[in-house]
Amino acid sequence: MTRPGQLHLNAFLMSVGHHEAAWRLPESDPYADLNVEHFKNLARIAERGKLDSLFLADVPVIFDQVGRRPSGILEPTVLLTALAGATQHIGLIATASTTYNEPYNLARRFASLDIVSGGRAGWNIVTTAGLDSARNFNLDALPTHRDRYERAAEFVDVSVKLWDSWDDDAIVADKETGVWGDQDRIYPPAHQGRYYSVAGALNLPRSAQGRPVLVQAGSSENGRNFAAKYAEAVFTAHQTLSDAQAFYDDLKRRAAEHGRDPDHVKILPGIVPLIGATESEARELEAELERLIRPEYALTQLADLLGVDPGELSLDAPLPANLPEEEQIEGAKSRRTLIVNLGRREGLTVRELIGRLGGGRGHLTFAGTPVQVADKLEHWYESGAADGFNIMAPVLPSGLAAFVDQVVPILQERGRFRTEYTGHTLREHYALPRPANTNTATRPPALLR
Ligand SMILES: Cc1cc2nc3c(=O)[nH]c(=O)nc-3n(C[C@H](O)[C@H](O)[C@H](O)COP(=O)(O)O)c2cc1C
Repeated sequence: MTRPGQLHLNAFLMSVGHHEAAWRLPESDPYADLNVEHFKNLARIAERGKLDSLFLADVPVIFDQVGRRPSGILEPTVLLTALAGATQHIGLIATASTTYNEPYNLARRFASLDIVSGGRAGWNIVTTAGLDSARNFNLDALPTHRDRYERAAEFVDVSVKLWDSWDDDAIVADKETGVWGDQDRIYPPAHQGRYYSVAGALNLPRSAQGRPVLVQAGSSENGRNFAAKYAEAVFTAHQTLSDAQAFYDDLKRRAAEHGRDPDHVKILPGIVPLIGATESEARELEAELERLIRPEYALTQLADLLGVDPGELSLDAPLPANLPEEEQIEGAKSRRTLIVNLGRREGLTVRELIGRLGGGRGHLTFAGTPVQVADKLEHWYESGAADGFNIMAPVLPSGLAAFVDQVVPILQERGRFRTEYTGHTLREHYALPRPANTNTATRPPALLR
């Protein structure tokens, strides 16, 4: 083994699969996005594979044109609370926006999920890229990229103050003396910042893992700086091994510059595995899904992402030469660059590009046998491109079941993945330390009990 150790695996769940046409397959239930039993089944499959965690994306808006694919999005912390009751071990990561929430409400929601699940919660911190979302929250324009990330930083600072506002031993529960909690061990944030003002302590104590695991998923300059300072796991999208390696090195270096242990930032690129008994069977599934795409929907979305009018893109021509540069994009910057590079590097027409994005919206898609998929994951891990992966099954539940039952055993046999859960909390699964309470840590020693 050129690099020892084990992978971390996260199941990124999305209605009946990540492929935009998955719902049109005969096996798929087009109403599954609203069915809690569907998600419980997926969570149990992921837990059967001993995966570290499962993850739900979120935007506070109808994600896409409703014609295109199942568009109901249950609020993730609510859905994960139901999944907490259906599972025992697996970590539960929900996305929530720092641009369209208030710290007290959101910190409380995540603290609740963390306590209800026995310390298995994670928060995928996003700043929310679209104008449509802004318009649902009293705004006429999208706040600038820089502004969104500055707000996010303060939001997380306040959230940590709230999660740490009780000492771990603040609950005394002394029936003899009649004292339940020790007021001296409660630390109201008294936060007065540029964006937020939060006076009082959270109405919940710390959880089994101290506080939820912080996850981040944006790879622009602002996104990387934010991740380097705060994130304990990073979801990212790369088309090539060399891009993934460069990102990995860059983020680990930035984390070290913030005085952090780079090992405490787990980097998880996404992969859409199309698994078949033979390579040609896997390619047939890929081709069948591609045939079911209606490109007119994808064209509108692609134009939006690239910052052009849909009329400027033509299905059977390559991307236009004069596209706005990443600096001019206020939405999802790194995804724009990934897509433009993919189209140009491989000389794809817009129709071909849409086909390539149909499975994972820019995440790597890979069609192969279980051994080939396992080889790919191991190769990226050994090449210093990843600490693990975001597994984005193209079709659910069948694609997740195929991964868990056919790929995971190969990784286990090679010593690359756990055969049993050894910890209880999400932090333990990801080999992250339980953070000390920032209030206790900064109190003068004389005041420490
Ligand atoms: C795996 C993954 C999952 C994401 N999930 C969400 C999400 O649920 N909601 C959201 O608004 N953005 C989501 N994003 C987008 C990022 O938060 C970010 O907006 C986007 O990657 C562009 O970031 P950048 O402008 O820093 O490059 C996700 C990105 C990745 C890589």
